[in-house]
Amino acid sequence: MMLQNDLLLRAARGQYVERPPVWLMRQAGRVLPEYRAVRERLKNFIELVTTPELAAEVTIQPVDLLGVDAAIIFSDILVIPEAMGLPYEMLEKRGPIFPQTIRSEQDLQKIRVADAPSDLGYVAEAIRITKRALSGRVPLIGFAGAPFTIFAYMTEGSGSKTFSTAKKILYRSPELSHKLLQMITDSTIGYLKMQIAAGADLVQLFDSWAGILSPAQYRTFALPYIAQICNAINEVPVTIFAKGAFFALTEFAQLKCHVIGLDWNIEPTTARQQIGNQKTLQGNLDPCTLYADFDTIRKETQKMVAAFGKQHYIANLGHGLYPDIEPDHVRCFVDTIKSLA
Ligand code: CP3
Repeated sequence: MMLQNDLLLRAARGQYVERPPVWLMRQAGRVLPEYRAVRERLKNFIELVTTPELAAEVTIQPVDLLGVDAAIIFSDILVIPEAMGLPYEMLEKRGPIFPQTIRSEQDLQKIRVADAPSDLGYVAEAIRITKRALSGRVPLIGFAGAPFTIFAYMTEGSGSKTFSTAKKILYRSPELSHKLLQMITDSTIGYLKMQIAAGADLVQLFDSWAGILSPAQYRTFALPYIAQICNAINEVPVTIFAKGAFFALTEFAQLKCHVIGLDWNIEPTTARQQIGNQKTLQGNLDPCTLYADFDTIRKETQKMVAAFGKQHYIANLGHGLYPDIEPDHVRCFVDTIKSLA
């Protein structure tokens, strides 16, 4: 299927674009009343993730309702622990919890490397349905959590401000940590390859908790596994988004990936200096900017693009949309980018 709008893929590959492509992290979700309506009919979040027709429906909503240049498949990074044998629950307003965790060598016996086609076939099916329904309107982004972020949830057992239990395991049991990180990495490579075979046009790794590690720990426990994944994926462009990892930008520049995602804690010009000209940059508007009035949103968005430049650049936020941001304000951001042609 030929894509009618391939701005995202051209920008990712460093090719010329008439204007930067735009999409938003968490564009499919609670900001859209249409998402909440689908969600309310269901028992819980996991039912939505595991029902391919519905996952496809909410994946396409932001393309129709916000006018973004890409869809991102509706799922969660926590499907990997689940496929490895560690199920999660999603509590309303409180986030994910894991009834069991991995904290010892014995615990490793409870889990296995995921077999993507049998354990995660519902994601492949959601991707196939989405691709068919999109019929080439925009590219579809696949994704997974980066190994350290998945490790953090599997050891901590829930979200946390400090992830001190996860970090304790890195300091006390480095061998166990590396074994678990390798199992997650192997699971993730198979999972991303399955998503690509099903139709994902680009894949993004979310290292949401990168910022809790020291540079030295990040080099030891995160980067080598991200590098393995980058080296294994040759089929489509890869984006690395590591929140809070401004200390690792020169190392990201060395990875075999196409795009580096940035949070709002770094100046675009600083990021470009550190990364150099070989990568496309993505980001990095503070999501809270979208609480402001339309004039402010337009000004801040234009300032951001002026700093990044229109080439080798994908417009996005510095992290996901918050549920109480008004859809009109999100559209103002998207329309500002689309008016840059
Ligand atoms: O539109 C999209 O971005 C695609 C869908 C998507 C979801 N989760 C749906 C979701 C994506 C890409 C994710 C990734 C994800 N999940 C990350 C990495 C990105 C990031 O935000 O740093 C992380 C850390 C998770 C884990 C996770 N899932 C948490 C901590 C929570 C609870 C927090 C919250 O916002 O409630 C979730 C739940 C979740 N995943 C929701 C959505 C739309 C909200 C729950 C709901 O709709 O009922």
